[in-house]
Amino acid sequence: MNRDDFRDALLAVMERKLHWAWPAFTSGQVARALLHVHFEQEYATYVRDFPVLLGRAYVQCPLPAARRELAENLYEEETGGLAAGRPHPELFLEYPRGLGMDLARFEGALTLLPAAQAWRDLLDQHTTAHGWATAAAVTTIFLEGTAYERGELDGTAPRRPEPALEQHPLVVHYQLPVEALALTKAHRKVEGGHRAAAWRVLLDLVEADAHPGVVVAMEAQLAAWLAYRDGVAAACGVVRDTLRAP
Ligand SMILES: [Fe+2]
Repeated sequence: MNRDDFRDALLAVMERKLHWAWPAFTSGQVARALLHVHFEQEYATYVRDFPVLLGRAYVQCPLPAARRELAENLYEEETGGLAAGRPHPELFLEYPRGLGMDLARFEGALTLLPAAQAWRDLLDQHTTAHGWATAAAVTTIFLEGTAYERGELDGTAPRRPEPALEQHPLVVHYQLPVEALALTKAHRKVEGGHRAAAWRVLLDLVEADAHPGVVVAMEAQLAAWLAYRDGVAAACGVVRDTLRAP
């Protein structure tokens, strides 16, 4: 695969990282009493362990130039030492804390929904047994990226929307205090740099013979993630046919 075909195949996966039930979460249609399911499953599938998943790409990578980019991202995620001031998994917990949820549930062994466990198993497999390029793609592109990745690479494509913090759906629909959006703020500060570094590593440093395997893994991640989000939607009482237009 040449560089452009590889880039387009990765972008084609990311442009489908959208789930039908997401508008229910951003328009206040999920019952407040069930919203904890979403935060708990996100935390236990990838947020809590994101630095470890990323670290697996680092330890398998033979290329110093790629390792440096991965190490910088890992350091920020694990410590917040470059920008956020606190570890990103800890900052994530400000959302449930601000919503008055029982944080003890996040400290214990959270039970994953079946589709969440299946996705987590695939994350573990892709970050341990498929080489550094797949581990880097799955963590820095699939997990950290959005459906707006094209906008990170191409100045003419639509960029990730960044509404004012006061307009954040959790603030508007669930009365989350704006101060609890610490992770949202941190990501806005560092994410542009992370996105550019992630794409540099994948497009400039991954050998062409590794491209097809990376794309296969990304497609599998997307399918497992969509099934995971179906599971979360069901557990949060979101029914496809009754979803109102937001
Ligand atoms: Fe982060």
